[in-house]
Amino acid sequence: MNVLVVGGGGREHAIIKKIRENKNVDKIYALPGNGGIARDAECHPIKATDIEGIVDFAKKVRPDYAVVAPDDPLVMGCVDALTNIGIPCFGPEAKAAVIEGSKVFSKNLMKKYGIPTARYQTFDNMDDALYYLESAPIPTVIKADGLALGKGVIIAETREDAKEAVREMMADHKFGKSGDRIVIEEFLEGPEVSVLSFTDGKTVVPMISSMDHKRAGDGDTGLNTGGMGTIAPNPYYTEEVAARCMEEIFLPTMRAMNEEGRTFKGCLYFGLMITEKGPKVIEYNCRFGDPETQVVLPLLETDLLTIMQAVTEERLSEIDVKWSTGAACCVVAASDGYPVKYEKGYEITIPDEIWPCVFVAGAAEEDGKLVTSGGRVLGVTAVRPTLRDAIDASYDMLDEIDFANKYYRVDIGQRALKALK
Ligand code: AMP
Ligand code: GLY
Repeated sequence: MNVLVVGGGGREHAIIKKIRENKNVDKIYALPGNGGIARDAECHPIKATDIEGIVDFAKKVRPDYAVVAPDDPLVMGCVDALTNIGIPCFGPEAKAAVIEGSKVFSKNLMKKYGIPTARYQTFDNMDDALYYLESAPIPTVIKADGLALGKGVIIAETREDAKEAVREMMADHKFGKSGDRIVIEEFLEGPEVSVLSFTDGKTVVPMISSMDHKRAGDGDTGLNTGGMGTIAPNPYYTEEVAARCMEEIFLPTMRAMNEEGRTFKGCLYFGLMITEKGPKVIEYNCRFGDPETQVVLPLLETDLLTIMQAVTEERLSEIDVKWSTGAACCVVAASDGYPVKYEKGYEITIPDEIWPCVFVAGAAEEDGKLVTSGGRVLGVTAVRPTLRDAIDASYDMLDEIDFANKYYRVDIGQRALKALK
């Protein structure tokens, strides 16, 4: 069978490598893919947000199945459009993807159904928001309602910073329409855990937990990025926490979406904070996390495509989803200067032996060579019986990959190691 994957980053590369393990898969098309993905799939230069282009392509090649991975096409209705032309898809319809597409929607959903999250207020008028900030507890958290390339969340340590963030979003339109409405919420503290889940609206199957490292610098300093590395499983996600999450968050969210007529089918991502008062939802994503996917899928022992198809056909309860008992670590190598300003176009060399562990995010093919083309260039994942060994092995592999201006954090997984002790 032939499978179409929409997207072109490290997450999509991880999905594609996993889908390729299925013996029935002949060909994988990636739209647009990237220079690295091109070694594992047939890439076509159609943007993930070009829904019409994707549909036209799908009409031509008639794939047997499609996976829509990034947030924008999901929120824009890519799954609806492909389903309409008779192509079975993995991913939520637009009306369910709104759980990520609108923070106002997701906060109101949690309030209505009693799902634990930070206390909040929503605003569509700047003066009201500024007035509220006169007396709001500090630090406070300002969030743009819509998608903002992962940059729409500001943690303000002072009242002035909070007001500045509101002005940037609502008056200067820093995130375009995404900032027309905002959420101002309580600042929560505690370790963060990412839990991706498979759900078909009837059953929810959490995947192995993971921990992202969002800041650019070692010791969690510097600017927020798309993620500089991940480990799985996350030691803060104990069996007790997992049981509470299932009862208080995962099942209630699935049922709430059904109740609202927005049944969610696909990968529902729970960004959680384990506070003193228990686990709370920091954010929902309507898709696989990046770079969480690069540690979660390598630990998956059940065939991914089989699970995905069961989700589409609403028979997930029939599948026994199994995980490796080992641990995984993914270290991301970026171009120096990311996430602000960086150079690209440098040749990347990757020894063949470690290629199966490499997930390419920002690289293009030029004259048969792989060259850097993005901020985050690639991630390297090692799976080992212990987290310590996985961390060492992923750094060892990263040492063997060369490109000019290679930058990476040296402390991926250290916080988790300490928590294990
Ligand atoms: P997001 O873009 O929604 O993933 O948020 C980015 C990061 O902001 C999260 O991973 C948290 O570290 C932080 N964050 C978001 N909401 C809160 C909150 N209410 N309290 C403390 N930190 C938060
Ligand atoms: N790694 C965080 C995200 O995918 O949103």
